[in-house]
Amino acid sequence: MATRNPQRLVVGITGASGAVYGVRLVQALLERPLEVHLIVTPDGRKVLDHELGLEGDVAAILQRDYGGGRHPAARLRDHAPESFFAPPASGSFRHDGMVVAPCSMKTLAAVAAGLADNLLNRAADICLKERRPLVLVPRETPLSRIHLRNMLRVSEAGAVVLPPSPGFYHRPRNVSDLVDFVVARILDQLGLPHELLAPWGSE
Ligand SMILES: Cc1cc2nc3c(=O)[nH]c(=O)nc-3n(C[C@H](O)[C@H](O)[C@H](O)COP(=O)(O)O)c2cc1C
Repeated sequence: MATRNPQRLVVGITGASGAVYGVRLVQALLERPLEVHLIVTPDGRKVLDHELGLEGDVAAILQRDYGGGRHPAARLRDHAPESFFAPPASGSFRHDGMVVAPCSMKTLAAVAAGLADNLLNRAADICLKERRPLVLVPRETPLSRIHLRNMLRVSEAGAVVLPPSPGFYHRPRNVSDLVDFVVARILDQLGLPHELLAPWGSE
């Protein structure tokens, strides 16, 4: 699954709870010389505002507010979710993988059904057809059989289902540690080295 030396990635943020996972992921990616293409659904924007107070132009906020260790060669491009003219809408736009974090049950269902009705779903659909890495971070609890079936369907189609369920064996001290645990697992899937979480057995 892991891409060697990824240079260009797509990140989707949907209206599931856990907007902080998407934000922290984008921040971690921008510490590297990466081109990040961001797609936030309309409900994703609402939940970003509700949970984190991030109202308005999310990409601009991430560019502006992030002060720590941003790589000078990092690039963040924000795409309107309704535009199928944006680069991630085409398989000819080469990139090294896509992460949807957090991923709502609605978006999970759309991806499982091949329903490319917005740019995020279309970009995920392309990942599956082009056999590119696709990591979905679904957030809901408890899970219905429909949710579970959809997770199995996307997994069988080639996606990685990565639930945001942090371990506690690293003795987290705060919410940030728990979020970083999940983001570390996402970066692992993308083949990106990080120091968010020491590998088990390394201490
Ligand atoms: C505050 C808030 C939290 C939500 N949390 C979840 C959630 O954890 N999982 C989920 O599947 N939907 C959640 N929803 C509902 C989704 O936002 C809704 O299903 C939406 O249609 C998802 O659309 P999207 O996938 O296009 O962003 C939440 C909605 C709100 C307002």
